[in-house]
Amino acid sequence: MDDLMNLQGQGHVRLGSSAGQALTRRDGRLKVTGAATYAADNRPDGLLHAVLATAGIAKGRVTQLDVAAAAAHPGVVKVYTPENAPRLAISPDEKIHPFVWRMETLTDDRVRYAGQPIALVLAETLEAATEGARLLAPRYEAEPHRVTLDDAEPFETDTTVFGRPATHVSGDVEAARSGAAHHVEATVETSQQYHNSIEPHAITARWDGARLEIDTPNQAIGLSKQTFAAFLGIDPSQILLRSPFIGGGFGSKAILYGGQLLAVLAARELGRPVKLVLRRDQMYGPVGHRAPTRQALQIDLDAEGNIAALEHDTVTLTSSFDQFLESASNASHSLYAAPNLRTTHHGRRADVGTPGPMRAPGEAPGSAALEIAMDAAARSAGLDPLEFRLKNYAESDPSTGQPFSSKGLRECYAEAARLFGWAGRPAEPRSLREGRLLKGWGMGTAQFPCPMFQAAAHATLRADGTAVIETSAADMGQGAWTALAQIAADGLGIDLDKVEFRSGHSDLPDAGVAGGSGHTATAGTALFNAGADAVRQLAELATTDPASPLFGAGNAGVTARAGRLWRNDDERSESYEDILARAGLDLVRGEGKGAREGEPERAMFSHGAVFAEVLVDPDLGQVRVSRLIGAFAAGRIVNPRLARSQLLGGMIWGIGMALQEEAVHDARTGRLTNADLAGYHVPVNADVPMIEALTVHEDDPYVNALGIKGVGEIGVTGTVGAIGNAVWHATGVQPARFPIHPESLI
Ligand code: MOS
Repeated sequence: MDDLMNLQGQGHVRLGSSAGQALTRRDGRLKVTGAATYAADNRPDGLLHAVLATAGIAKGRVTQLDVAAAAAHPGVVKVYTPENAPRLAISPDEKIHPFVWRMETLTDDRVRYAGQPIALVLAETLEAATEGARLLAPRYEAEPHRVTLDDAEPFETDTTVFGRPATHVSGDVEAARSGAAHHVEATVETSQQYHNSIEPHAITARWDGARLEIDTPNQAIGLSKQTFAAFLGIDPSQILLRSPFIGGGFGSKAILYGGQLLAVLAARELGRPVKLVLRRDQMYGPVGHRAPTRQALQIDLDAEGNIAALEHDTVTLTSSFDQFLESASNASHSLYAAPNLRTTHHGRRADVGTPGPMRAPGEAPGSAALEIAMDAAARSAGLDPLEFRLKNYAESDPSTGQPFSSKGLRECYAEAARLFGWAGRPAEPRSLREGRLLKGWGMGTAQFPCPMFQAAAHATLRADGTAVIETSAADMGQGAWTALAQIAADGLGIDLDKVEFRSGHSDLPDAGVAGGSGHTATAGTALFNAGADAVRQLAELATTDPASPLFGAGNAGVTARAGRLWRNDDERSESYEDILARAGLDLVRGEGKGAREGEPERAMFSHGAVFAEVLVDPDLGQVRVSRLIGAFAAGRIVNPRLARSQLLGGMIWGIGMALQEEAVHDARTGRLTNADLAGYHVPVNADVPMIEALTVHEDDPYVNALGIKGVGEIGVTGTVGAIGNAVWHATGVQPARFPIHPESLI
């Protein structure tokens, strides 16, 4: 039991037989049969359908809405505009915690970006509400707008996102630069991207007296309950927030937006349940996006090709009324051994919706630019890209001097390079062909930090040997319900099929944020601790009971496995059922928490290496990825099947970022021209080549007691740069922006 009880320490916990198995998703059958209930599937009696009307200009005022026409349409029950919209209990600009943006709830007639909600129509049917919103026919007083990096307004800030410093300096960049043998500069732009989860943002809200029930997909159930409560001015205990399934979140469902509050307020005022589902085009503005970046990198090398100085500056956009700055330069903090390092961020304000976290926020665009610059530096040193990265391998975190908690990156390089067949790659561009197509090979390093949030869990062992585990985690397709249950089963020392997992709503202990690639580590630790706490109570009962074969063994002298406690000093054991029965108990309930205590003394990252092969049409500039291989070191892999799926998903996201994803503003109207899945391209099966992701063994005794890092976001990093570098190798053209446009290559 010693190792079970030592979870808050640095001890490395041995898990049982569930964790490590490549199990299929426990919720898979529910999902493929349509039995999984998503927020918009709820149809409470008396339901009203809500539809937002949104602004068609990017800046100015709404001067007229034909409310009479909308209200007169058959089936329309209510039209809310800034003149009559129900009010929040506190200011819509109140920052009650760092995960809150302006609650746009029809508070005034200002238009701050195209697509901003300007009215809400409620009707008996979706069709009537839709037609009512159309009949509003808004008129505007437009003002000049700015929507691009070039014309946006610079502003002063010393923080990026969630209060992180905008600038980091270690060493003396200028001094190192003046003595350097090679100086390399690279500028890389990345596009603005939208999350485009398949499930649209949706909410069904119902009041029962003072009690509020909310169904809405949500990546941070406990925090969101608090946010709802604060803006509604009610006690959090009055709210039940359900989010059993999320049809894709990617960060956009971690932060509440005003429409959710409006639906709740309308339901209260009208005394009927309200459902609001955003149309695809309405997801391009009010619910976050990844801001565009312009990144300038400078790398100075000594004569042997060692990095003497690394500088990474990011210019990015935020809205006119909130601050979220894509922290792309942070990707350069810890990856390569740069003794002199400077990273900076510069924000500009534009008439756009507030950006937000999107899969691998900061790291994805930052890694894309860094890897392009690294290949440019390798060329100036006359070194192979892999050789150059190995030469500049960081043995400790260059930004802090801290040792890494673990770093299996060398193994990743070796494994992925071997599988790809990197050895013997010709150094010159345009030297490989496949028929009339130019072929190129490129690589990039993947890296993502290992944050932990705060989570709590309960684990109840019942008299029949089964268990109930409870934490509020949502399953957003990543497989949380499966991986977390595997960890919990091992914490309890029972088989997975004996574990009932209660999850997905706010009356359960809070599982923390499903984001930052830290959910399995955080909620998993809480569940494991809860299970271990229950087992500890059982051990206490047995080892102090003279009738038990475990009597006198002491808590530290027994081990939990297969629903029994086993003496460590001989073969004797006793089942959980027998222990509980003799004690006359129906159950024992354990509680657990998951969090990282104190300031970490080690740098904690998942790492990886991605190798890409592209084929480029020399006449059309069309790029196809033909092979993509990644190897990742991410600590303990709880479920290899789900981890591989996450890594592949991230790498495929990288294909989209490198070659396709881009929301385009019409600078004249300030509106997006491609706010739909026809115009906003993401990879489809035909875009995805022979692809593989493998993991290398990595034991991490520091990151948390279970040794779990994270796999949700790292796949995007490394991949974009690898594809860009492969395009250089095929064509001799170094990408200056992502996605790479065909015309830039011919
Ligand atoms: Mo994510 S951007 O951590 O959901």
